[in-house]
Amino acid sequence: MKSKIINEPSLKKASLRQGGTSFEYVNNKYPKEIYDFFNGKTFYIRTYGCQANIRDEETMKGMLKEVGAVEGEDELSDIVIINTCAVRENAEDKCYGELGQLKNIYQTKKKIITVLCGCMVEEPEILDYVVKTFPFLSVVFGTHEIRDCVNLIYESARDGDSIIAVNSKPGEVIEGLPVHRNNRYKAYVNIMYGCDKFCTYCIVPFTRGKERSRRYQDIITECQELIDDGYQEITLLGQNVNAYGNDLKEGYDFADLLEGVAKLGIPRLRFTTSHPWNFNDRMIDIIASYDNIMNFIHLPVQSGSDEILKRMGRRYTKAEYLDLVKRMKERIPNLALSTDLIVGFPNESDEDFNETLDLVDQVGYDAAFTFIYSPRKGTPAAKMKDDISKETKGERFKELVNHLEVSISKSAEAMIGHTYKVLVDGPSKTNPELLSGYTESNKLVHFKGGIRLVGQIVNVRITESHTYSVIGELVDE
Ligand code: SAH
Ligand code: SF4
Ligand code: F3S
Repeated sequence: MKSKIINEPSLKKASLRQGGTSFEYVNNKYPKEIYDFFNGKTFYIRTYGCQANIRDEETMKGMLKEVGAVEGEDELSDIVIINTCAVRENAEDKCYGELGQLKNIYQTKKKIITVLCGCMVEEPEILDYVVKTFPFLSVVFGTHEIRDCVNLIYESARDGDSIIAVNSKPGEVIEGLPVHRNNRYKAYVNIMYGCDKFCTYCIVPFTRGKERSRRYQDIITECQELIDDGYQEITLLGQNVNAYGNDLKEGYDFADLLEGVAKLGIPRLRFTTSHPWNFNDRMIDIIASYDNIMNFIHLPVQSGSDEILKRMGRRYTKAEYLDLVKRMKERIPNLALSTDLIVGFPNESDEDFNETLDLVDQVGYDAAFTFIYSPRKGTPAAKMKDDISKETKGERFKELVNHLEVSISKSAEAMIGHTYKVLVDGPSKTNPELLSGYTESNKLVHFKGGIRLVGQIVNVRITESHTYSVIGELVDE
């Protein structure tokens, strides 16, 4: 295939933060030949990474279905899209594994249209490597080109070109794209895109561009439509939801938005991710005063050492984080907290690590995601000298998980004998005889029940605890 380059990424350009937020309301009307081309073709999307990528997948599905394509089951579909994540090396490795598999399929079934998109291709060196190593790729587009996915796939097939379109612009807000949701009861709603925090280890501000909020009314309209469609749970999405509205001159902040959506009457309202830096008391009070805002906050801390937090660019100290947690716990009854932690940041000393263990013990988290630091090319931390051995990092990781499990099992055990409201997801992934779902505090529950309960909120009394999940029995059916 001859290659056609529309845009190539640049980390420098991706880091620029100029100008305000611009909006575009699109009405996707395509010429007839596009409908003819896609009609009846099967597509398969494999998504890695965070909820932002999952929500992008839902938009791509919506767009492809709108032009007549149908969802296939696997990589043997006519169009295969890999939606990548670049946050850590192991996320990238998974995507390379998938690309290798695609290469085999391409060699035996040449007619396949292959697409690579998402965060990885926003990195110039990775894009270079990918294009050289996997020359069969039909289209490569970045996180800002989702809106063009149908046109790009069509043009590549029509002209026999291998198209590269990755424009590292700061980003705009596009409204009006169709969506095909993966779940009938639980929905993700973007409230903002991008990130301006530039934590020194993180690639996201480069791959996702400028922090930009959707308009209040557009979010409310989407949430109302979900309620009208019978949705039980909405999760408001953003890399830092607490910064919602700061870039707009509309006068609404995250507390206003939470209240606005809660008042619409969705049974369960969640949000992720919160940055401790922008979390104010009014937000805490709104969460406390609405029963349908769940008593669960994911509040990434990353480290308990002031020195490491400073070098990470997190803009809070251990004491400030603990004070925020205290204020949250005082005001929100039965609050459950989860977090993200990084071990092995460059030159993390034993003392630094002990500060993290101490913080974890003090907070008593109900859930946590722990990561070993992974250098990301182009970020400031990747240039920091690091004398700590791989073995030490591995040991710290294990020790941290052990500490976390103490509080996680304690909170799970404390649930035994009590009854909780559970939104039923479907048959349990580990035991199809059981149903599974989540409590308001986001604990995974398995219990016996009829399949007709899927999508309903039921009462379950907890009988057994397994640290990361609990077992229970239906109280009323
Ligand atoms: N915006 C969110 C989440 C961003 S990515 C936030 O700020 O919390 C999710 C998590 O990945 C981060 O919280 C962090 O713990 C982890 N992470 C990001 N970059 C990383 C890196 N280079 N190495 C290891 N973990 C990383
Ligand atoms: Fe990355 Fe920090 Fe932004 Fe989260 S807040 S996405 S960790 S830069
Ligand atoms: Fe990964 Fe991009 Fe999300 S790097 S974590 S998919 S924003």
